Amino acid sequence: MSEEPIEHPQPSIQNLDRRHLLGLSSWSAAEIRLVLQTARRFREVLERPIPQVPTLRGTTVAMLFFEPSTRTKLSFQLAASRLSASTLGFSKSGSSVSKGETLKDTAQNIEAMKTDLVVLRHPSPGAPHFLARHLDAAIISAGDGAHEHPTQALLDLLTMAGRFETFEGLRVAIIGDVAHSRVARSNVFGLRALGAKVTLCGPPTMLPPRPEGFSREGLPDVRTTSALGDALDGCDVAMALRIQLERQDEPLFPSLREYHDRFGITRAHLDAHPDLLVMHPGPVNRGVELESAVVDHERAIILDQVTNGVALRMAVLYLLAGGGGAENQAAEKSWA
Ligand code: CP
Repeated sequence: MSEEPIEHPQPSIQNLDRRHLLGLSSWSAAEIRLVLQTARRFREVLERPIPQVPTLRGTTVAMLFFEPSTRTKLSFQLAASRLSASTLGFSKSGSSVSKGETLKDTAQNIEAMKTDLVVLRHPSPGAPHFLARHLDAAIISAGDGAHEHPTQALLDLLTMAGRFETFEGLRVAIIGDVAHSRVARSNVFGLRALGAKVTLCGPPTMLPPRPEGFSREGLPDVRTTSALGDALDGCDVAMALRIQLERQDEPLFPSLREYHDRFGITRAHLDAHPDLLVMHPGPVNRGVELESAVVDHERAIILDQVTNGVALRMAVLYLLAGGGGAENQAAEKSWA
């Protein structure tokens, strides 16, 4: 099932008045719309025979990954390359971190090689905020502990925007290990900024103890339920989350089988909800949060999410490098 082009309103701002992307908790609907609109334009670039533009030639992006990653790391690398930026790759394993070098020292040494943007994935919540206080480079969070994963949420929003004409009133259920999920937190902030209705669903042990921690000032609290049927009733998008065993200090449910029986999305759910779309940030545990047949079903748009991740990360790199401002409007002509 391919995406149909849908006309969305033009964003009301032209450029981001921000230095960093650390999380979505304070991002406005206008800022999010600008990123999505810019990503749509880059998606067109990616469909060209030569999917590359010179827009960020001379810019250097450092990729600092202190945790494993497939999708985020590779799509940021590809996004930088499609924009003609240079990249510096860093993984914790094989680096001087094993010799005792701190995050701050590591990052400052990499910045001393003249990097303009730093993409950071780190197990500690707040690590990107810490670097933003100590580096001149623009910092982009690629996921910090169980805190936020803003570019994942933005690519999820981009994917939903390709399927629905408006976020106003869109009903999205986020299902699974919500309490430990940085993806859930960033999605709640983004979805609710745009007017979607969000239900969080999972075993009571996996729901946030203080759902108000997912709230934005001035917006109503999120709805929570431990009944999957209740969450899927009238729902437009079911976003399943991976069970994050690595972030659980003790088992939060009796067995994976029992979890699947109560919270796994199955073919039967798709048959009962003929318009329901299924999303997942990956990596998927087949047979746990999603029945294997659901992963491969045409209404599972998981690979669209991955495809959109490249254009979305191009948009984030471009806008945080100053794109949209007067200086870059000439550069834009090179790919418009
Ligand atoms: N969704 C996501 O963050 O995947 P990776 O861990 O593979 O980057």
